Amino acid sequence: MYTVRKVTEDLYWVGANDHRLALFENIFPISRGVSYNSYLLEDEKTVLFDTVDWSAARDLIKNIKDVIGDKDLDYVVVHHMEPDHGGSLEEICIRYPNVTIVSSEQGFEIMRQIGFSKVDEHKQIIVKEGDTISFGKHTFAFVEAPMVHWPEVLMSFDVTNGVLFTADAFGSFGALDGKLFNDEVNFDRDWLDDARRYYSNIVGKYGPFVQDVLKKAATLDIKYICPLHGPVWRNDFAYLLDKYDKWSKYEPEETGVVIAYASMYGNTEHAAQTLASRLCDKGMTNVVVHDVSRTDVSELISDVFKYSHLVLASVTYNLNIYPVMKNFIMDMAALNVQNRTIAIIENGTWACTVGDKMEEIIDDELKLCDVLNDRVTINTSLNKANANDMNSLVDSILESMKNIKELKEKLNK
Ligand SMILES: Cc1cc2nc3c(=O)[nH]c(=O)nc-3n(C[C@H](O)[C@H](O)[C@H](O)COP(=O)(O)O)c2cc1C
Ligand SMILES: [Fe+2]
Ligand SMILES: [Fe+2]
Repeated sequence: MYTVRKVTEDLYWVGANDHRLALFENIFPISRGVSYNSYLLEDEKTVLFDTVDWSAARDLIKNIKDVIGDKDLDYVVVHHMEPDHGGSLEEICIRYPNVTIVSSEQGFEIMRQIGFSKVDEHKQIIVKEGDTISFGKHTFAFVEAPMVHWPEVLMSFDVTNGVLFTADAFGSFGALDGKLFNDEVNFDRDWLDDARRYYSNIVGKYGPFVQDVLKKAATLDIKYICPLHGPVWRNDFAYLLDKYDKWSKYEPEETGVVIAYASMYGNTEHAAQTLASRLCDKGMTNVVVHDVSRTDVSELISDVFKYSHLVLASVTYNLNIYPVMKNFIMDMAALNVQNRTIAIIENGTWACTVGDKMEEIIDDELKLCDVLNDRVTINTSLNKANANDMNSLVDSILESMKNIKELKEKLNK
């Protein structure tokens, strides 16, 4: 055994860890790397569940051989055809000419679009919701999970031993590096932030579809959750499902404040820091401050999913929003961010228009978001009058937090 890990009886992790890729999907920085999880069932039939990115095909082939030696591969189940998983399918077809491919109808279409010409030389089984296939001891039921986060996505459930293959759902950035299970890592400390960043940026837009999947999952007696990235779950499911439930309903995990500022010369930055100090002074220490020019937008999005309150502090830039801040706000809109309390700090030297511009986008594009009335308008740098405005803003933020708390208490009664 080289890098293979046993998941449970008859089932092995045969995936790969990638520390070379700088940007996942050529957009998300992954300083902790990423894993492409592929699983191999050794039953009466041998079955591979998904492949890996084409850059990792060598690891996959080595791992498969490590488990089944010279035995043939009978089936490959393709839950998701995005190239970080489907990429090595053609290689599998070439190495195992007898392999039968199992996927959704659209999964097969995407294989052809990618140009995998070998695919049509193989026996194919198209599966849809409720279909089952037996590979010997283990029988698999297929579940459709459209738009989590591609249209063709399938999940499958081993009804014999309760293993649920969830495609990208419940996945995370971060390489496994030997560890495999959630209880082999300190997930809350070391993985949750990357799991949230993965979810919010990649799946975040599709909350209602995730809710549909969670409802289906609630009916299953799950013993293992095998996602296509990050740790396999074998206990503490309530923790994971609760996070997914909150994220997919766009409910904050914590009452707290993200202060995101855009500042060229430091004055707006100083205002953001002032607000943070004043909030902490009044006991609200669950505060994070980000410079939108320095913090990757995927991290900003992740924190917006985590916290209840967001303060946008921006300079006016050619009568408009500072471009990096605008990009962040548009990204929130694109990812369907909703249900947040938002405050605005604006700055301008001769025509301060940025507050109205930001509020316009929030009103038009972000659903169920309240913008607090206590906007702070700065004329280049904070003055005495602003100090009072800042105190009103602090009170207004704290007051709205009380409202959230009261509402929650009412709902829990
Ligand atoms: C390229 C550029 C465009 C600007 N456009 C405007 C503007 O349209 N209206 C305005 O009031 N100030 C404008 N400003 C001034 C900045 O908003 C001002 O310097 C800023 O509020 C100072 O805050 P800071 O120290 O946080 O950068 C502009 C500044 C630059 C560099
Ligand atoms: Fe994907
Ligand atoms: Fe993926």
